[in-house]
Amino acid sequence: MQLLKNYIQEHGTVLTDGVLKVDAFLNHAVDPKLMTEIGREFARRFSQEPITKIITLESSGIAPALMTSIELGCDFVFARKRKSLTMTDRLYSSQVYSFTKQQYSEISISKDFITASDHVLIIDDFLANGQAALGLIDIVHQAGASVAGIGIVIEKSFQSGRNKLIEKGYRVESLARIASLEKQKVAFVQEKTI
Ligand code: G4P
Ligand code: NA
Ligand code: NA
Repeated sequence: MQLLKNYIQEHGTVLTDGVLKVDAFLNHAVDPKLMTEIGREFARRFSQEPITKIITLESSGIAPALMTSIELGCDFVFARKRKSLTMTDRLYSSQVYSFTKQQYSEISISKDFITASDHVLIIDDFLANGQAALGLIDIVHQAGASVAGIGIVIEKSFQSGRNKLIEKGYRVESLARIASLEKQKVAFVQEKTI
Protein backbone atom coordinates (compact mmCIF):
# COMPACT_ATOMS: atom_id res chain seq x y z
CA MET A 1 0.00 0.00 0.00
CA GLN A 2 1.87 3.01 -1.32
CA LEU A 3 0.25 5.63 0.94
CA LEU A 4 1.29 3.66 4.03
CA LYS A 5 4.83 3.22 2.72
CA ASN A 6 5.02 6.99 2.20
CA TYR A 7 3.89 7.59 5.78
CA ILE A 8 6.51 5.14 7.06
CA GLN A 9 9.28 6.84 5.08
CA GLU A 10 8.18 10.35 6.01
CA HIS A 11 7.08 9.92 9.62
CA GLY A 12 8.70 6.69 10.84
CA THR A 13 11.97 6.45 12.75
CA VAL A 14 14.23 3.43 12.91
CA LEU A 15 15.31 2.74 16.49
CA THR A 16 18.67 1.05 16.89
CA ASP A 17 17.33 -2.38 17.89
CA GLY A 18 15.49 -3.08 14.66
CA VAL A 19 12.30 -1.49 15.88
CA LEU A 20 10.36 0.98 13.77
CA LYS A 21 8.83 3.89 15.65
CA VAL A 22 5.55 5.02 14.12
CA ASP A 23 4.08 6.99 17.01
CA ALA A 24 3.24 9.83 14.62
CA PHE A 25 0.39 7.94 12.90
CA LEU A 26 -0.18 4.45 14.34
CA ASN A 27 1.05 3.75 17.88
CA HIS A 28 0.34 7.04 19.64
CA ALA A 29 -1.06 9.74 17.39
CA VAL A 30 -3.47 8.14 14.92
CA ASP A 31 -3.94 9.58 11.44
CA PRO A 32 -7.66 9.32 10.60
CA LYS A 33 -7.23 9.70 6.83
CA LEU A 34 -4.59 6.99 6.72
CA MET A 35 -6.70 4.72 8.95
CA THR A 36 -9.67 5.18 6.61
CA GLU A 37 -7.54 4.08 3.65
CA ILE A 38 -6.13 1.16 5.63
CA GLY A 39 -9.68 0.02 6.42
CA ARG A 40 -10.59 0.21 2.74
CA GLU A 41 -7.51 -1.76 1.69
CA PHE A 42 -8.10 -4.59 4.18
CA ALA A 43 -11.77 -4.70 3.16
CA ARG A 44 -10.76 -4.92 -0.51
CA ARG A 45 -8.27 -7.73 0.11
CA PHE A 46 -10.72 -9.80 2.16
CA SER A 47 -13.86 -8.93 0.19
CA GLN A 48 -14.33 -12.56 -0.98
CA GLU A 49 -14.48 -13.88 2.60
CA PRO A 50 -17.81 -14.06 4.47
CA ILE A 51 -16.40 -12.26 7.50
CA THR A 52 -18.73 -11.81 10.47
CA LYS A 53 -16.27 -10.36 12.97
CA ILE A 54 -12.95 -8.60 13.24
CA ILE A 55 -10.78 -9.09 16.29
CA THR A 56 -7.58 -7.40 17.37
CA LEU A 57 -5.52 -6.86 20.51
CA GLU A 58 -5.59 -3.61 22.43
CA SER A 59 -4.38 -0.95 21.99
CA SER A 60 -2.74 -0.18 18.64
CA GLY A 61 -4.74 -2.69 16.63
CA ILE A 62 -8.00 -1.00 17.50
CA ALA A 63 -7.87 1.90 15.03
CA PRO A 64 -7.14 -0.11 11.86
CA ALA A 65 -9.46 -2.92 12.94
CA LEU A 66 -12.34 -0.56 13.62
CA MET A 67 -11.94 1.18 10.25
CA THR A 68 -11.95 -2.22 8.50
CA SER A 69 -15.09 -3.31 10.35
CA ILE A 70 -16.84 -0.13 9.20
CA GLU A 71 -15.88 -0.90 5.58
CA LEU A 72 -16.94 -4.56 5.80
CA GLY A 73 -20.04 -3.84 7.88
CA CYS A 74 -19.16 -6.55 10.38
CA ASP A 75 -18.82 -6.73 14.16
CA PHE A 76 -15.67 -5.75 15.98
CA VAL A 77 -14.18 -6.77 19.32
CA PHE A 78 -10.73 -6.29 20.77
CA ALA A 79 -8.96 -8.70 23.10
CA ARG A 80 -7.98 -7.29 26.46
CA LYS A 81 -4.50 -7.55 27.89
CA ARG A 82 -5.67 -6.83 31.39
CA LYS A 83 -9.00 -7.89 32.71
CA SER A 84 -11.23 -4.95 33.31
CA LEU A 85 -13.35 -4.54 36.43
CA THR A 86 -16.48 -5.35 34.46
CA MET A 87 -15.09 -8.50 32.83
CA THR A 88 -16.71 -10.87 35.27
CA ASP A 89 -18.08 -13.13 32.52
CA ARG A 90 -16.60 -16.31 31.28
CA LEU A 91 -13.61 -15.68 29.03
CA TYR A 92 -11.57 -17.28 26.32
CA SER A 93 -7.92 -16.64 27.22
CA SER A 94 -4.54 -17.34 25.70
CA GLN A 95 -0.96 -16.88 26.85
CA VAL A 96 1.10 -14.64 24.57
CA TYR A 97 4.89 -14.68 24.83
CA SER A 98 6.71 -11.40 24.24
CA PHE A 99 10.25 -11.86 22.96
CA THR A 100 11.09 -8.25 23.73
CA LYS A 101 9.78 -8.40 27.29
CA GLN A 102 10.68 -12.10 27.70
CA GLN A 103 7.47 -12.81 29.55
CA TYR A 104 4.02 -14.24 29.04
CA SER A 105 0.90 -12.15 29.26
CA GLU A 106 -2.71 -13.24 29.13
CA ILE A 107 -5.13 -11.96 26.50
CA SER A 108 -8.88 -12.48 26.79
CA ILE A 109 -12.17 -12.11 24.95
CA SER A 110 -15.54 -12.64 26.63
CA LYS A 111 -17.50 -15.70 25.50
CA ASP A 112 -20.36 -13.26 24.86
CA PHE A 113 -18.55 -11.67 21.93
CA ILE A 114 -17.23 -14.56 19.84
CA THR A 115 -19.23 -17.63 18.89
CA ALA A 116 -18.87 -20.82 16.86
CA SER A 117 -20.74 -19.28 13.91
CA ASP A 118 -18.19 -16.48 13.50
CA HIS A 119 -15.79 -16.25 10.55
CA VAL A 120 -13.07 -14.03 11.96
CA LEU A 121 -10.58 -11.63 10.43
CA ILE A 122 -7.65 -10.93 12.76
CA ILE A 123 -6.03 -7.50 12.42
CA ASP A 124 -2.94 -6.13 14.14
CA ASP A 125 -0.65 -3.14 13.78
CA PHE A 126 2.66 -5.06 13.73
CA LEU A 127 3.73 -8.58 12.85
CA ALA A 128 7.09 -9.48 14.38
CA ASN A 129 7.37 -13.01 15.77
CA GLY A 130 3.67 -13.72 15.45
CA GLN A 131 2.92 -14.42 19.08
CA ALA A 132 -0.01 -12.00 19.32
CA ALA A 133 -1.60 -13.37 16.14
CA LEU A 134 -1.15 -16.96 17.35
CA GLY A 135 -2.81 -16.04 20.67
CA LEU A 136 -5.78 -14.53 18.83
CA ILE A 137 -6.01 -17.60 16.56
CA ASP A 138 -6.06 -19.77 19.71
CA ILE A 139 -9.01 -17.78 21.07
CA VAL A 140 -10.91 -18.08 17.75
CA HIS A 141 -10.43 -21.85 17.84
CA GLN A 142 -11.49 -22.09 21.50
CA ALA A 143 -14.75 -20.44 20.46
CA GLY A 144 -15.20 -23.00 17.66
CA ALA A 145 -15.08 -20.17 15.12
CA SER A 146 -13.04 -20.05 11.89
CA VAL A 147 -10.17 -17.79 10.83
CA ALA A 148 -10.65 -15.90 7.56
CA GLY A 149 -7.11 -14.56 7.62
CA ILE A 150 -4.72 -12.17 9.26
CA GLY A 151 -4.42 -8.53 8.22
CA ILE A 152 -1.27 -6.72 9.30
CA VAL A 153 -0.52 -3.02 8.91
CA ILE A 154 3.31 -3.30 9.15
CA GLU A 155 5.09 -6.62 8.79
CA LYS A 156 8.73 -7.00 9.77
CA SER A 157 9.53 -9.65 7.20
CA PHE A 158 12.97 -10.28 8.70
CA GLN A 159 11.31 -11.76 11.79
CA SER A 160 9.60 -15.14 11.96
CA GLY A 161 5.90 -14.24 12.29
CA ARG A 162 4.78 -14.36 8.67
CA ASN A 163 6.34 -17.75 7.96
CA LYS A 164 4.90 -19.25 11.15
CA LEU A 165 1.40 -18.21 10.15
CA ILE A 166 1.78 -19.24 6.48
CA GLU A 167 3.17 -22.64 7.51
CA LYS A 168 0.04 -23.20 9.58
CA GLY A 169 -2.04 -22.49 6.50
CA TYR A 170 -3.30 -19.00 7.29
CA ARG A 171 -3.66 -16.23 4.77
CA VAL A 172 -1.56 -13.21 5.76
CA GLU A 173 -2.18 -9.82 4.12
CA SER A 174 0.35 -7.17 5.15
CA LEU A 175 -0.06 -3.61 3.87
CA ALA A 176 3.65 -2.79 4.25
CA ARG A 177 6.36 -5.43 4.37
CA ILE A 178 9.75 -4.38 5.72
CA ALA A 179 12.74 -6.38 4.52
CA SER A 180 15.30 -4.57 6.64
CA LEU A 181 15.79 -1.76 9.14
CA GLU A 182 19.56 -1.88 8.87
CA LYS A 183 21.66 1.30 8.71
CA GLN A 184 18.70 3.26 10.11
CA LYS A 185 16.89 2.84 6.78
CA VAL A 186 13.55 1.28 5.97
CA ALA A 187 13.83 -1.15 3.04
CA PHE A 188 10.56 -2.64 1.82
CA VAL A 189 10.10 -6.11 0.38
CA GLN A 190 9.92 -5.76 -3.40
CA GLU A 191 6.51 -6.94 -4.53
CA LYS A 192 4.87 -7.26 -7.89
CA THR A 193 2.43 -4.43 -8.42
CA ILE A 194 -0.97 -5.50 -9.64
P1 G4P B 1 8.03 -9.59 19.49
O1 G4P B 1 7.01 -10.42 18.75
O2 G4P B 1 9.06 -9.01 18.61
O3 G4P B 1 8.57 -10.27 20.67
O4 G4P B 1 7.26 -8.37 19.98
P2 G4P B 1 6.37 -8.32 21.26
O5 G4P B 1 5.35 -9.36 21.19
O6 G4P B 1 7.21 -8.23 22.49
O7 G4P B 1 5.68 -6.96 20.98
C1 G4P B 1 5.65 -5.97 21.95
C2 G4P B 1 4.96 -4.78 21.38
O8 G4P B 1 5.80 -4.18 20.41
C3 G4P B 1 3.64 -5.04 20.66
O9 G4P B 1 2.82 -3.96 20.89
C4 G4P B 1 4.06 -5.09 19.18
O10 G4P B 1 3.00 -4.73 18.32
C5 G4P B 1 5.12 -4.05 19.17
N1 G4P B 1 6.13 -4.15 18.14
C6 G4P B 1 6.90 -5.18 17.73
N2 G4P B 1 7.80 -4.77 16.83
C7 G4P B 1 7.59 -3.44 16.67
C8 G4P B 1 8.22 -2.42 15.88
O11 G4P B 1 9.16 -2.64 15.11
N3 G4P B 1 7.73 -1.16 16.00
C9 G4P B 1 6.70 -0.85 16.82
N4 G4P B 1 6.29 0.42 16.86
N5 G4P B 1 6.09 -1.78 17.59
C10 G4P B 1 6.55 -3.05 17.49
P3 G4P B 1 1.99 -3.89 22.22
O12 G4P B 1 2.85 -4.02 23.42
O13 G4P B 1 0.92 -4.90 22.08
O14 G4P B 1 1.48 -2.43 22.25
P4 G4P B 1 0.23 -1.67 21.67
O15 G4P B 1 -0.61 -2.58 20.85
O16 G4P B 1 -0.49 -1.18 22.86
O17 G4P B 1 0.84 -0.61 20.85
NA1 NA C 1 2.09 -2.12 19.09
NA1 NA D 1 -0.10 -4.57 18.61
